[in-house]
Order: sequence, then structure tokens, then C-alpha cells
Amino acid sequence: MKINLGQADTIQKNSMKTFFYEDLVFLVVNLEGKYFAYDGQCPHRKALIGSGQLNGNIVTCQWHQHQFDLRDGKCLTNRFIKLKGYTVVIVNNEIVVEME
Ligand code: FES
Repeated sequence: MKINLGQADTIQKNSMKTFFYEDLVFLVVNLEGKYFAYDGQCPHRKALIGSGQLNGNIVTCQWHQHQFDLRDGKCLTNRFIKLKGYTVVIVNNEIVVEME
């Protein structure tokens, strides 16, 4: 299933944005022009990860301060959790997330 989330140029370089689609939440990140997409809910206790603090490639969740590397979703502070990643492509400035 492919989901069109909106326009890529609404996410400035080195920033992130949360998108809601039906009952799903996505976090889309633009790191130096490369886009990454994740489940928008923290795998710890489901805070909106996009409301966290972004520093370079690292986002710190606002609730319990777990930190995630947004290049691969790995958690730096808890090896048992990880952001769920999705394939994302930009087609004519549209953000398209591919889900299985
Ligand atoms: S909900 Fe994100 S660190 Fe707990």
C-alpha cells in the first residue's frame, strides 16, 4: 500500500514533521535532503516522536528522553526498542510512504 502524505518541500532541511493518515501516524525527516519515514509514535510509550527535540541526526523523545538515530531508527538509550521504519520516496515533490 502506498500512502501520499503531502509535499516534501514543507519539511525544511534537517527538520522533521508529523503526518496523520487515518489511524496512522508518521514521522518524516529531511536530513541533508535525504528523507526518512518512521512510525510517528515512540516505541517506548507512544509519545509523538516528532514533538521531541532534534539535534543533528538524533531525536530525543519528550516523555522519557530516549534518543533515536533518525538515519536508521536505532535507539541509543535502550537496545530493546527501535523506531519502525518505512520506505519513502519523493515523487514530484510528494512524499510517498510504502507499507506492506
Ligand atoms: S514515550 Fe518516548 S521515551 Fe517514553
